[in-house]
Amino acid sequence: MKNTIVVGAQWGDEGKGKLVDVLAEQSDLVVRFNGGGNAGHTVMHAGETYKFHYMPSGMLHNKQCILGTGVVINPKDLLEEIKSFTDSGHAPKLQISARAHVIFPHHQLIDAKEGGKIGTTGRGIGPTYSQKASRINLRILDIIADDAIDRIKKSLRDVRDILVTDGIFSESEFKDYCESVSQEYASFGSDFKEYVTDTEDLVRIASNSGKQVLFEGAQGTLLDLNYGTYPFVTSSSTLAAAAFVGGGAIPGVPIRILGITKAYTTRVGEGPFPTELDGDAATNLREAGHEYGATTGRPRRVGHLDLYALRYAIRISGIQELAMTKIDTLALVNGIKACTGYKINGKGIDYFPADAPTLELVEPIYTDIPYIADLSKDEWAKLQGKSKADLPESIQTYIKFIEDFVEIPITILSHGPERNETIVF
Ligand code: GDP
Ligand code: IMO
Ligand code: MG
Repeated sequence: MKNTIVVGAQWGDEGKGKLVDVLAEQSDLVVRFNGGGNAGHTVMHAGETYKFHYMPSGMLHNKQCILGTGVVINPKDLLEEIKSFTDSGHAPKLQISARAHVIFPHHQLIDAKEGGKIGTTGRGIGPTYSQKASRINLRILDIIADDAIDRIKKSLRDVRDILVTDGIFSESEFKDYCESVSQEYASFGSDFKEYVTDTEDLVRIASNSGKQVLFEGAQGTLLDLNYGTYPFVTSSSTLAAAAFVGGGAIPGVPIRILGITKAYTTRVGEGPFPTELDGDAATNLREAGHEYGATTGRPRRVGHLDLYALRYAIRISGIQELAMTKIDTLALVNGIKACTGYKINGKGIDYFPADAPTLELVEPIYTDIPYIADLSKDEWAKLQGKSKADLPESIQTYIKFIEDFVEIPITILSHGPERNETIVF
C-alpha cells in the first residue's frame, strides 16, 4: 500500500484535477498541500463540470478532504466554493489546517499592483506567502480565535507601512479598512470553526493505519518557487517534496509520485516558453484543446511538447511515473513536434537554464511526432482495461518514444476530460 503524490510536470493545468478525481476512488484521504485560489482544477463527471480552486478534487467521491498547512486561503472564496458545492447537492467532508495562512483583500490589492510583470492570477498568492515568510501574516487559527478582531487589527498595524507608504490605501482608507476587514474576517472565522483542526494528525494517523492518502499538488514543477523559471513562477513549492512540508506526508511511508503532463505544452502568464507556437498553429491548438485558464479565463499560451523541460521536471521533483492527458487533442492537430534538446548560439546544452533570460535564448531541437490515430469515443472505450500493446501502433510508438527520452513509464493515458476517458495500464 502506497500513498500517492500527484504533481504537475509542466507549467500547470496538466489535468491534475481530472487525475486526482480518478485516483480518489481508491483513496481514503485527499490532501491539497500548496498554493491557494490560483489553482483551477477541473473535474468532469456525468456531464457536470466542477472547477475546484480550493477544495481537493476528491470531493465528488465523498472522501475526507484536507487543506494542509502549506495552502493559503481566502476564506470568503473558500466559503463560496463550499456553498456552491453544497447547493449542488453534495456534502463536503472538509478539514482545514489551523496553521494554513490567510489571504486578505490587501494581499490581492498588492498582487494587482505588482503581479502584472509576472502575469499572476491576481489572487493575492505572492503577497500572502511573502508576509508569511516575513512572519507578519495571520493563520486560520487566528481568525477563529475568540479575540480574532484584536488579532486582525494588530496584524494590520504591522503591515500599515507597506500599505500606506506604497499608496495601496490613504491614511483614512486604511482606518476604514481595518475596521471593516477585522469584522468581516472574524465572521468568516466563526463560519470556519467547524472545519479547522490539526490536519497533520489526521494524515499521520491515516498513513500509519494503512489508509491510502492522495496528495494533490497545485501548479506545476516549472512554476516552483525554487526550481521553476524564476521569477516567472508562483510563490510556493510545487514539487512532490512540498507534500511533506505542506501536507503532512511522512518520510519513510512508501509513496508513489505521479507527474501529469499534457501531450503538448501550455503556459499561462509571462515567462520563457521555448517551444511556444504563434499564429494559426497556436490558434488551432488552443481551440482544439479549449486552452483557456480555469481560474482567470485567460487564453493559455500553447506549444510543442517540450520533453527536455519535462525530463528536467521529472528529475527535480522525483517523479516516478507519468499520466499523459489530451492525447485526443493531439490527434486533432497537425504539426506538433517533440523538443528533445536545447541549443544556445547553435551549440547544444546539457542543462536546463536557471536564468530566465538565458532560457529565452534557447533554440529547441525538434523531432517530428508521428501521426497519432484520431479514435472515436467508442474506439477509445474499447481500449478500457487493455494494455499498451493493444493501443493503435501510432500511439504505442509515441508513448515508447517519450518513455525512452524521459526514462520513466507512462502508466495512465487520458483521452478526454470525463472520468471514464482514462486508461490505466
Ligand atoms: P489542472 O489545473 O492540472 O487540474 O488542469 P485544468 O483543469 O486547469 O486544465 C485541464 C483541462 O483539460 C480541463 O478543462 C480538463 O477538463 C481538461 N482535460 C483533462 N484531461 C483531458 C484529456 O485527456 N483530454 C481533453 N480533451 N481534455 C482534458
Ligand atoms: P493549477 O493548479 C497554471 C501561474 C500564473 C503566473 C504565475 C504566478 O490550476 O495548475 P500566482 O497567481 O500563483 O502568483 O501566479 O503562475 N499560475 C498557474 N498557471 N495553472 C495554475 O494552477 C497556476 N497557478 C499560478 O499564471 O504565471
Ligand atoms: Mg488549472
